Amino acid sequence: MPEKKGSNMRKLHFGTTAAVSALALTASLTMAGAAFGQASGVSDPGPRAGTPALLPLKGLNAFNVGDLTTAEQAALAANPGLFSISSTGPGEIEMFNAGANFFTETVSVVPAGVPGHINDAPPGDVSGGGLGPSFNANSCLVCHASPIEGGASGTVNPQVKLATLDGAHNTVPPFISTNGPIREARLISANTNNGVLSGDVFGLFVIAGRSDAPGCTATQTNWPQQVAANNVIFRIPINTFGDGLVEMTSDEAFETDSAAVASSASTNGITTGSFNHNGNTGTIAHFGWKAQNVSLLLFAGEAYNVEQGVTNDLFPNERHFEQANCLFNPLPEDSENLLTTTPTTPSGFAFADLASDITQFAFFMRLSAVPAPAAQTAATSQGESEFISVGCSDCHIVSHVTASSIYTSQSNVTYFPFSDFALHDMGTGLEDQVSQGQANGLQFRSAPLWGVGQRTFFLHDGRTNNLVTAIEDHKSSGSEANTVINNFNKLSATNQQDIIAFLRTL
Ligand code: HEC
Ligand code: HEC
Repeated sequence: MPEKKGSNMRKLHFGTTAAVSALALTASLTMAGAAFGQASGVSDPGPRAGTPALLPLKGLNAFNVGDLTTAEQAALAANPGLFSISSTGPGEIEMFNAGANFFTETVSVVPAGVPGHINDAPPGDVSGGGLGPSFNANSCLVCHASPIEGGASGTVNPQVKLATLDGAHNTVPPFISTNGPIREARLISANTNNGVLSGDVFGLFVIAGRSDAPGCTATQTNWPQQVAANNVIFRIPINTFGDGLVEMTSDEAFETDSAAVASSASTNGITTGSFNHNGNTGTIAHFGWKAQNVSLLLFAGEAYNVEQGVTNDLFPNERHFEQANCLFNPLPEDSENLLTTTPTTPSGFAFADLASDITQFAFFMRLSAVPAPAAQTAATSQGESEFISVGCSDCHIVSHVTASSIYTSQSNVTYFPFSDFALHDMGTGLEDQVSQGQANGLQFRSAPLWGVGQRTFFLHDGRTNNLVTAIEDHKSSGSEANTVINNFNKLSATNQQDIIAFLRTL
């Protein structure tokens, strides 16, 4: 019998976790046409409520009090343990807090700050520049806010209001709605737009009409037409919690961990070890629905360019280069900040002030804590055993161990992302016809399940808010998960329900 990795360690893990109340929260969380609950008698209670909890990985895992919203400050007052900042690693605390500020910063087209420094808003400042010509949102926070900064889609989609913010005259695409998932869109085939290839992300909106983009005549992609032509696929945000640990895990560790489940996986018809290797270095890429990006810095640079239209040191050019009358800033809009005077006093100078926004985003994500699971009950412990025995953990590998790291408390840490970070053929039902790196149109990374207990929408395109549907949708022609889903369907309704309850504790 192959050993299922991590199942013993998890008991220790949960043993140290503070209890979080598992109130069912169903009001206002339904998507058009889909309510929680299934004909089979197995139902999803919906996102776990309670204070958004982050496990104190580094002590400095969350936010400086000054960075918190009023509601978060109230949560902090009620439960000070959740947001404690340790006295260790002052450089890390500085970078983390600065990063949190930048991650939550809103950008407009033209910056309000110092001329020549498009994006050097000091910590506490909340304005930057560089938005567009096309964009999906004006802040990382728009898409990564639930249940707390760094997370994923919540229950209200701010993209509806962004369409016409500051005078822009975009129409809201048919796949965006106030209570639906935040989405970005890729065109399967693109032969009408210069500079953007088939399969690439197309910005939902353009800056034309905005008061800070005079003379810009960029035209918005005709989304109703593309939808009618079945030429659009969607991606929803992924939470970034704990991603520093993923980044600090060696390729060898991931390979060994996949090898440890290989025998069980092969019984279940699953291919293991198909990692998305970076085309230039050959190292394993970890992040994104297709594990397409190797590092948080790369993801940050790409997201700044793709989601917000902000050019930066990694991606120095605007995406829609033909729209010359919509370029308002010198390039790159975000870069390392050059000091114009020599700092005189150490106390008046913070190294974070030198760092580019993308470096700061990466720091914020790298040092943010893993999602804290709720306390286990007899039913959820049973659900965890069933999750492992039916073979979910052949792909959603329970735990990995980090390598030695320069960051405080990130060395040799066992963590529980519930993913092998490898690619699997998920069949025609989930296929999106888009390839990224070594991932083809049928393949996806086993979605990490940490934080799934508080998530609202599931699967790469956000097609459901129901965990039961998310599981059943693993099964379709050609999917590697078919045997495991058959195993799941053969369980008693009680044991299936236990698995759902277990997932909602994560
Ligand atoms: C318009 C919404 C949107 C905005 C704005 C946005 N993201 Fe994302 N984010 C996404 C989507 C969608 C994905 C999944 C993309 C994919 O894999 O195809 C994602 C995935 C990620 C991931 C991968 C996480 C993982 O564990 O795999 C990181 C890291 C990330 N975003 C960072 C950022 C940063 C930093 C910013 C700000 C510069 C940002 N995002 C802005 C929508 C957004
Ligand atoms: C063959 C590998 C494989 C097996 C087996 C598997 N999964 Fe998955 N799982 C995936 C992949 C890949 C995705 C992402 C698919 C997508 O978004 O299109 C996923 C997504 C999910 C999601 C949605 C997560 C999110 O962030 O949206 C849940 C929940 C989930 N799996 C639970 C399970 C459970 C429970 C089982 C066992 C009954 C299981 N999976 C078995 C590979 C697998």
